Amino acid sequence: MRYWFACLVALAAPVAAQERPAVPAFTLAPLPYPATALEPVIDGETMTLHHDRHHRAYVDALNKAVAADPALSGRSLEQLLAQAGSAPAAVRDNAGGHWNHGFFWKTMAPAGAGGVPSPELARAIDAAFGSMERMKTAFKAAGTGRFGSGWVWLIVDADGRLAITSTPNQDNPLMDVAAIRGTPLLGNDVWEHAYYLKHRNRRAEYLDTWWQVVDWKTVSERFAETMDRTAQD
Ligand SMILES: [Fe+2]
Repeated sequence: MRYWFACLVALAAPVAAQERPAVPAFTLAPLPYPATALEPVIDGETMTLHHDRHHRAYVDALNKAVAADPALSGRSLEQLLAQAGSAPAAVRDNAGGHWNHGFFWKTMAPAGAGGVPSPELARAIDAAFGSMERMKTAFKAAGTGRFGSGWVWLIVDADGRLAITSTPNQDNPLMDVAAIRGTPLLGNDVWEHAYYLKHRNRRAEYLDTWWQVVDWKTVSERFAETMDRTAQD
């Protein structure tokens, strides 16, 4: 009896394995706070649509694009970004879309909860831009100056200096195609889908109010990690 049971299990196992759906390479994490947590700066409905529809679409399309190209199998998101210039357009767009949005959610916190920049980061901002206000002015200019859709970033560049840059579509400064490459400390999504229900087409208004929900604690940690890594290189 035991013998026949073992035979049945052995025969069934390969079939079960074949029928098991492939595990997607990339997954959508939930928002790190309730969708309404950033109100009134970003309304809950915009956040829900942005995360549940737009971000999910990038993840799904990325999994499909990677599954269609065996050469890309097993590559991390960061590896895909670093080789975006030679990747199919669907990989470049959707790897960027997935990474950018995951980074963006973690860049924000409810108003009043994000703290202030660490003394080290505050000093670096003053040294690079003259003051926090001047950094914000330059950031807004880059964001409003981005024609169409894209992102605006505060980065540590290849020389270890703070810089502001903007990328089109879903590109980012980690990509080999970026005009200015570097490590992002914070990034803002200037696609209209990021702000349209509350701010309509008023991108400048959105950029002004967005600072209220920046999580400076996270941004300061990113800065410290990046500078530590730069010092070790
Ligand atoms: Fe977006």
